Amino acid sequence: MKIKRIDHVAIASALPDEARSLFTELMGIEYTGCDPVEREGVNTHFFRVGESNLEVLEPLGADSTVARFLEKRGSGLHHISLAVEGLDDFVVHLKTKGIQFTSEEPGIGAHGKRIIFIHPKSAGGVLLELCEEQTGTE
Ligand code: CO
Repeated sequence: MKIKRIDHVAIASALPDEARSLFTELMGIEYTGCDPVEREGVNTHFFRVGESNLEVLEPLGADSTVARFLEKRGSGLHHISLAVEGLDDFVVHLKTKGIQFTSEEPGIGAHGKRIIFIHPKSAGGVLLELCEEQTGTE
């Protein structure tokens, strides 16, 4: 098990179209598409930056966690995602060290990746996502 890279930095945005035109038109960053995650009530927009990505989170409904985030704090940094090899072992390892997660088990996020979030109180105030390709080949 190891951390491979920063997979993406996610920004919750009340104005996703503005974020998109900033990144693509003004900064020349490649837009690689969107992937709605219905279970979380969020649409995810991805922009490739080298080996990593920027992810813009757009709420799909008023009761989504991202809608509540925007209501409370406005647009801003939402989470940082680390690509992990051996996710399940990593979660067990961290749990034995007392690290708290926002769910018991990994779920399925954008692009079918397995994801789980470390609670901000266990990660210096930052919501930290761990993600792994389903195939385990990446
Ligand atoms: Co993410």
